[in-house]
Amino acid sequence: MDAVLSLNEATVAYHGDITILNRVSIAARKGCITGIIGPNGAGKSTVLKTLFGFLPLRHGSIVLGGQDISREPASRRAGRGMAYVPQSRSLFADLSVEDNLLLGCWPFRKDRARVRRRIDAVYSRFPILAEKRRDPVSSMSGGQQRFVEFGRALLIEPSVILLDEPTAMLAPRISKEIYALVRGLADEGMTVVLVDQNVRRCAEIADHLYILELGRNKAEGDRQAFEQGAGLRDMVATWMDYRID
Ligand SMILES: Nc1ncnc2c1ncn2[C@@H]1O[C@H](COP(=O)(O)OP(=O)(O)O)[C@@H](O)[C@H]1O
Ligand SMILES: [Mg+2]
Repeated sequence: MDAVLSLNEATVAYHGDITILNRVSIAARKGCITGIIGPNGAGKSTVLKTLFGFLPLRHGSIVLGGQDISREPASRRAGRGMAYVPQSRSLFADLSVEDNLLLGCWPFRKDRARVRRRIDAVYSRFPILAEKRRDPVSSMSGGQQRFVEFGRALLIEPSVILLDEPTAMLAPRISKEIYALVRGLADEGMTVVLVDQNVRRCAEIADHLYILELGRNKAEGDRQAFEQGAGLRDMVATWMDYRID
């Protein structure tokens, strides 16, 4: 099966001549979880920011559903069904859950019926958000806030979702719920790109894994290759020593 979304030989810099990504290639397939792992500073978050259109390409291309979107702004990419849940908290803490969700409906704000329908769909997926709809986001736990961020991303009914360390800093019980949710999204047919600091969990859940190091592709393989191939496992074992898993 062909990739729904691909980053091809991407070279990216934040500013000046310091390139952060050097000809990085990633391909994500429909209904699959494509995992990206690698040490801190490897460029994982930069890959997602680039895919979503927050950073311009110096070289290479991005193809979504057969179309070259390399030069499209993030707003157009969202319009094409791409959603992004960034690594750092991205909610308006003083606004209510519902107001945060309403902001996520911006691309189709004029269609009031759709706005209501989509918000209700998010409430039925995450009942806790319905319960707390009038509460300020700042009053919620870290895990609950994550669900608001997922809910907001799902409002546009994305075909592709980019997730940057969705379980970072969360308790194991909530992390487990989030991994189940991510698996469920892929099973529904969504194309999931998952950046994860938890190498072991990512290797368990991802259908295909990319390993980045210092802004370059280091290795890749499907889940079986990761489980059976000692080479890939040994490569990450060294990093895992530094991790709290
Ligand atoms: N806003 C920025 N401006 C300049 N350099 C940045 C910025 N964000 C990240 N970097 C640098 O880019 C490199 C890759 O960062 P990042 O993609 O966040 O790595 P990862 O997510 O794998 O930990 C790091 O060397 C980091 O210091
Ligand atoms: Mg990161």
